[in-house]
Amino acid sequence: NMIDQLLGLQQLEKKLCGFLGIKRCLIVSGDSDNQPQFIDAMGKLVNDSLQMLLPKGKNIVAVMGGTTMARVAKCLTPEIMEKREVLFVPARGGIGERADIQANNVCAQMALKTGGKHRALYVPEHVSEKVYRPLLTEPAIQEVVSLIKDSNAVIHSIGEAMHMAKRRAMPESIVKMLIEKHAVGEAFGYFFDEYGHVVYRIPRIGLQLEDLASMDCILAVAGGSSKAKAIRAYMQHAPKNTCLITDEGAAKVILKE
Ligand code: BG6
Repeated sequence: NMIDQLLGLQQLEKKLCGFLGIKRCLIVSGDSDNQPQFIDAMGKLVNDSLQMLLPKGKNIVAVMGGTTMARVAKCLTPEIMEKREVLFVPARGGIGERADIQANNVCAQMALKTGGKHRALYVPEHVSEKVYRPLLTEPAIQEVVSLIKDSNAVIHSIGEAMHMAKRRAMPESIVKMLIEKHAVGEAFGYFFDEYGHVVYRIPRIGLQLEDLASMDCILAVAGGSSKAKAIRAYMQHAPKNTCLITDEGAAKVILKE
């Protein structure tokens, strides 16, 4: 019955926190690998967590892209705006996602759903270092980059390394290197092996991992048993105050239950 299920999930949450060494884990039932609609339940928990963790007053929330984030964005509500101002900004510029799941779009959707504001960061992907550097000195780009640096919250997902490398059409030589270094997970454009070592980092602007530590609210949203290894790898690197929002499918594989 439902009570048993809830108690079961609570126990699983406690175990998972201990195992991953982070403060909070929230687990929804099911496995979003088979049924992506379970992501909506995770989205609802993102909404609840933002209400609980975002301080009153001004907030800048940095968000990443991806299919999980795009679906989570649709689950946010104006409740989080109570006594708050919230500005959504993309956490990093140009890491080469499909337009509809890009961080810029996720931000716009979150602002629409909550009644908050958003800003976009337009930096083209696949430009050389020579072209990229001077772009960063553009006032319009610099302004958004400094908003990102001032963000006090972040919402991101975690991807499977090889899946992400393919989706972002990364060069053959880098894909080869990722295979050789046994990359299993990716978050924020950082690739990790199963021990949590950073084996590669997409050299793009915006939020860096070390910027997370001082934040009020860090929400990592990733589910599905296929992401278990990726979640585990990234969590060895994640700040302790990260709140992981996941599903039973991923949690059970991580804990080998
Ligand atoms: C993004 C993260 O939010 O989600 C990426 O920043 C991650 O780094 C990606 O790999 C995962 O995408 P998806 O489509 O599996 O949700």
